[in-house]
Parts: sequence; structure tokens; C-alpha cells
Amino acid sequence: MKALVLAGGAGTRLRPFSYSMPKQLIPIANKPVLEHVLENIRDVGVTEVGVIVGDWAQEISEAIGDGSRFGLRVTLIPQDKPLGLAHCVAIARPFLGDDDFVMYLGDNMLPGGVVDIAADFAARRPEAHIVVHKVSDPRAFGVAELAPDGVVRRLVEKPLQPQSDLALIGVYFFTAAIHRAVAAIEPGERGELEITDAVQWLVTHRARVTASEYDGYWRDTGRAEEVLDCNRQLLGALSARADGTLDGASELTGRVVVEAGARVVRSRIAGPAVIGAGTLVEDSAIGPNTSVGRDCTLRRTTLMDSIVMDGASITAVTGLRGSLIGRNAVVDTGAEGEGHRLVVGDHTRVEVAA
Ligand code: DAU
Repeated sequence: MKALVLAGGAGTRLRPFSYSMPKQLIPIANKPVLEHVLENIRDVGVTEVGVIVGDWAQEISEAIGDGSRFGLRVTLIPQDKPLGLAHCVAIARPFLGDDDFVMYLGDNMLPGGVVDIAADFAARRPEAHIVVHKVSDPRAFGVAELAPDGVVRRLVEKPLQPQSDLALIGVYFFTAAIHRAVAAIEPGERGELEITDAVQWLVTHRARVTASEYDGYWRDTGRAEEVLDCNRQLLGALSARADGTLDGASELTGRVVVEAGARVVRSRIAGPAVIGAGTLVEDSAIGPNTSVGRDCTLRRTTLMDSIVMDGASITAVTGLRGSLIGRNAVVDTGAEGEGHRLVVGDHTRVEVAA
């Protein structure tokens, strides 16, 4: 079996981050989403991985290299335009050949892994196998209707009036039968070749399509709120470790990771939290539910429920919460006199206390 990871696309829902980085490289517990994805694929025992890349090909390539760091062999497959998930399967055909493959959306987080689902596919041997998860509002997802034995009866992409509460998770197991379906379908309402329509084509043409219901934690990390929620979830599973330096006036409580080369000076860090390598935290109170990337500087700052990305600097700002601070961003109280001074990019969201 091979794997096809989708790491192209536009990521407009994650603006402003998607102006400067691909959404698949947003760090969750200080590790890019795409690394979490590749680790789950490796755990299934797959080693040949095709990765679809768009405009951010260079950044993705620098982040994952040839895959050997994860025990994988990665082949990058360029996609000129984000023409849809089924289009990705079509352009990956030379890489996939007639092999079975797991298709994994590069922005989907399933911290529980997909080993059981892969075993389900192997045991049942349908032509295609999807994964579903109960959600309260399925309108933003592909929606599945199942028979009691888990056979798929109908799939609809982002329906206005969903007929079930089962959303499609971004992990699919396919045999070569999917290629005929992909070649047969037309672009859907958003102008893209939808994989949901290709799987529905299989159902219509009497192929056997089955589903596993996944009841573990799952997030499509397409929006800032989901990224922060996922960060909280993953930090909760950390084991405490202090490889950096901590002075006598500092205190760590709960599960805190201080990576090698990080320094904590006259500060309190409440877990779960992670402080990245080379970062300085001084006269500050950090956490809980907070990850700070590499080479950041945090001085006289209080911060909780947040992600601070590599190289950012925060000085003398208190009460920060629920924040996503981008790479090399500067947040401080340097302005003279009354009022706030903001230099923020397009589609940035800033909330200032009333
Ligand atoms: O997250 C689960 C949902 O993912 C499913 O419920 C939907 O049925 C499925 O269509 C998909 O919907 P999204 O609207 O969330 O897909 P998105 O456009 O975010 O793309 C998913 C991933 O695939 C993302 O990592 C970007 C990548 N991608 C997307 C397109 C359209 C590509 O690599 N190439 C593309 O052409």
C-alpha cells in the first residue's frame, strides 16, 4: 500500500497565516500538522508517500525533505492549481499505479492514529473505505449516510440540509477502482473535482464502499479556533521534561516541556505548555495550554491558551489568551502616550480589551 498526502490548496480560512506559510505547516504542540500526518502514515506501515504540493512546494520540501527523518520515502507531486481532491488523485496516478493507497488530507489531525481503520480496510477489502465522525453541524463537510452494517449508501459534499450527522474525515482507503471514478466525474459546485463525488460514483456503480466510525479526537485544522483547540488537546498528552535552563526564581507546574537551549528566568510556567529551543522567557507567566516555538523572546508577558510561532517576540503585554502569533511577529507596548499602535497585515484579526 502507498500513501497520498494532500498538502496543496489555498488555505484562505487560515488567513493571514496562509499568506506566509502553508496551513499544513502550522505548528501544533510545536510540530507542524504535516509531521503529525506523516507519523500516522508511518505507524500504519506504509513507506512510499506521494505529497501533493501547490504554491508552497519549496517550504513543504524544506520541512519534510525526502521523508527519511520519518522512516518514509517521499515523492513530491506538484499541482499547478487547487482543482480539487479528486484532481490530486488524477495527477498522482503515475506515482500510485494500480496499488491500494491511503489518501490523507494534510490539514487533518487524528492524534489517535489510523492503524485500526487501516486494519478495518484490510479485513473488509471493499473497493473504497471512508472514515466518518459524528458532528453537531455537518454542513462544512462531506456527509455520509450508512446502512447498519457500515456500507455506504450515499455521500454528499457540504450539503445545505444534511441527511445524517456523520462527517467525512480526511482519511480514505482506496483500491485502483477509484481511478475510473475520478475520470468519470465533473467539477462540483465550488468548481473542484470532489473526491466525495468520486466515491459516490463508486456507490452508484455498485462498487462496495464501507465506512469506519472514528470516535476519537479529530480536527480539520482549517481555522484558527480549530488550531488552538487541537493544540490544547495535544499538549494535554505531553510528558514533562526540562532540558533547558531554569533559574531559582522560576517555577514549573504541571506538564511542562522546556526544550534544550531554552531559558526561563523569574517566570512561572503552568502546564500543559511547551517552550521551544533557544527561547527566552523572562519575568513572565505562561500557560496553561500554550506552546511557544523556537528562538522566541517573551518578557514581562502573561499568556495562556495560545500558540507563539518561531522567532516571535512579546514584551510587556499582559492578559494575552486564545492568540496565534505568527513567525517573527513583534507584539509590545512600545507606543508613546495614549492609544494603541498597530501594524497588521491583510485579514489579520486583533482584539483589544474594551
Ligand atoms: O476535513 C474533512 C473534509 O475535507 C471533508 O469532510 C470533505 O468532504 C472534503 O472535501 C474536505 O473538505 P475541505 O473543504 O476541508 O478541503 P480543503 O479544500 O481544505 O482541502 C483539504 C486538503 O487538501 C488541504 O490540506 C489542502 C489540500 N488540497 C486541496 C485542494 C482543493 C490540495 O492539495 N489540492 C487541492 O486541489
